[in-house]
Amino acid sequence: MNIREKGEEIFSWGASQRTDDAVSAWKNHSLGAARVAEAIAEKCGMDKDRAYVSGLLHDIGRYKGPHTGMEHTVDGYNLLMEKGMPEIARICLTHSFNPREKVHEITLDNPEQDKFLKDYMLKVEFDDYDLLAQLADFMSGAHGVTTIERRFCSVLWRHGLKEPREDLLKLYELKEYFSNKIGMDVYLLFIDELKASILNGIPGKYNNKQSEEEDA
Ligand SMILES: [Fe+2]
Repeated sequence: MNIREKGEEIFSWGASQRTDDAVSAWKNHSLGAARVAEAIAEKCGMDKDRAYVSGLLHDIGRYKGPHTGMEHTVDGYNLLMEKGMPEIARICLTHSFNPREKVHEITLDNPEQDKFLKDYMLKVEFDDYDLLAQLADFMSGAHGVTTIERRFCSVLWRHGLKEPREDLLKLYELKEYFSNKIGMDVYLLFIDELKASILNGIPGKYNNKQSEEEDA
């Protein structure tokens, strides 16, 4: 079984664990992030299957449910380490913290998990797959592929942010980094979907009534 087949099998298993209404938002978000990561990876000579699976499984820790909070990072890491996918497991941790010191803004309920996450994040050096998953996460929402701006509004709407200016600048740096690598604005790879997404109601609302899943 190749990495893509294995990733899709784990994703299907994760979705089968969920019976709540927000599962479709989680699936759309994950599948959108996978397509964004794959398309950009292909254009800049990275392994597109590894990138696809990184996007698909970055939030796999939410197989436990929609309100797992930041615990989903460590839950996803543990699951994928058990499945023998260490290169994807790290994405479950790294996608949520840029710069990595932002890990200090959160505290997990379980002190052992909290210590593990903080120790890991303070040692890890981001590679291009980590950075690509961070960008892909912010170019996909509850309806699929979207703009950083809409996704950012959605996160701000649902969670609030301590340092929104710094966070937004980091996201624009990521977008510029990959746009430079592929020789065009990354938005041009998804221009039709992005046009549709900006007409799609209020960011942060799913179908304008159901709250978008907490999947940032
Ligand atoms: Fe995500």
